Amino acid sequence: MDTVVLAYSGGLDTSVAIKWIKEKYNLDVIALTIDLGSERNLPEIRQRALNVGAIDAKVVDGRDIFVKHFAFPALQAGAIYEKEYPLATAVGRPLIAKLLVDVAHEYGAKAVAHGCTGKGNDQVRLDVSVQALDPQLQIIAPVREWKMSRPEEIEYARQNNIPIPATVDSPYSTDVNLWGRSIEAGILEDPWVEPPAEVWLWTKSPEQSPNNPQYIEIEFEKGLPVALDGEAMDGVKLIQHLNDVAGEHGIGRIDHVENRLIGIKSREIYEAPAAVVLHQAHQALEDMTLSRDQARFKNLISSQIAEMIYNGLWFSALHQDLRAFVESSQRHVTGTVRLKFYKGTSMIVGRKSPKSLYQYELATYDKGDTFDQDASLGFIKLYGLPLRTQATIQMLGPGENYLPQLEGREE
Ligand code: ARG
Repeated sequence: MDTVVLAYSGGLDTSVAIKWIKEKYNLDVIALTIDLGSERNLPEIRQRALNVGAIDAKVVDGRDIFVKHFAFPALQAGAIYEKEYPLATAVGRPLIAKLLVDVAHEYGAKAVAHGCTGKGNDQVRLDVSVQALDPQLQIIAPVREWKMSRPEEIEYARQNNIPIPATVDSPYSTDVNLWGRSIEAGILEDPWVEPPAEVWLWTKSPEQSPNNPQYIEIEFEKGLPVALDGEAMDGVKLIQHLNDVAGEHGIGRIDHVENRLIGIKSREIYEAPAAVVLHQAHQALEDMTLSRDQARFKNLISSQIAEMIYNGLWFSALHQDLRAFVESSQRHVTGTVRLKFYKGTSMIVGRKSPKSLYQYELATYDKGDTFDQDASLGFIKLYGLPLRTQATIQMLGPGENYLPQLEGREE
């Protein structure tokens, strides 16, 4: 019997999918549950897959790989979609695709399957990534294909003795990994409505956060966070810790009306305390250690990479090329950033680096100033030369410059 590897979350959709795939495609299902830090009961999910009829069920702890090869590279790249969204779900999908393909090869499966709908970005990310990694594999997306309404799906589950998880009653649709959680649907579909308190699980409301500020120091080596408050930590632990501490202070809430790849605007709520704080700190360190030209150019690369990650192109050759630029740009991004958390805000209050391009002797207005102010005169003379030339020859006539005509002034 041919087999298919299904990305299995344990929810209603992917549980129903196990039965539906067997019926529709006559394929045996191997359930693959991947832990990217969502804190679910994995043995229980595994058992559920087997109960519903999967011929095998595998659980993979992908947290280390996720941080090392997906979240942190996105951090180094400064990848934030539309200036708001740190891309938690979007950086998780290529890894899920990679593990689906690996397990398919391991079992000699001819297909992979996932529970994405036909309206979102995730289907694109998974399909395109799987195609990039193994163009021969068939891809099955039951939820996109079956066209059952929610009540029909629940009825199908009942008839097939598929346990219906308690979460079906939640009006929200969520996705979680270490880099953040996303919440959509229900009342949130009205972009005018403030998110109800119940949607937030990782962050206190600023009103209820501690009344005293908390300082934290984040140490980076070559653009990678390596220690918190002087204590060395591996990436997974560091992110978990920052999610807790910054979340406690109400930091990392995002409310974003974003442009999906397939053309829909959607209102998305995110909680991403660690990602928000790490991006902020990383940026502050780059401000100290990259030249102006590097920083300006890197901005272009950052937004290009963010767009590509969002749009499912993680495994593209262009991303690989841009990644090489980012990697190179990080070689002096080493140092420590100090932040102050207070009532929903995170503020940079200090930074230091052995490779800092900030030079006190050049910046100071105090004694110890070594900057040669006379040199500025010559600089300005050359820098302004083209403007002086053009002004003299072309721009002094009426209507020739940007100056507003001052009232009461004769032409
Ligand atoms: N809008 C976000 C994105 O496209 C979050 C998607 C969440 N996915 C989900 N299956 N609930 O990355």
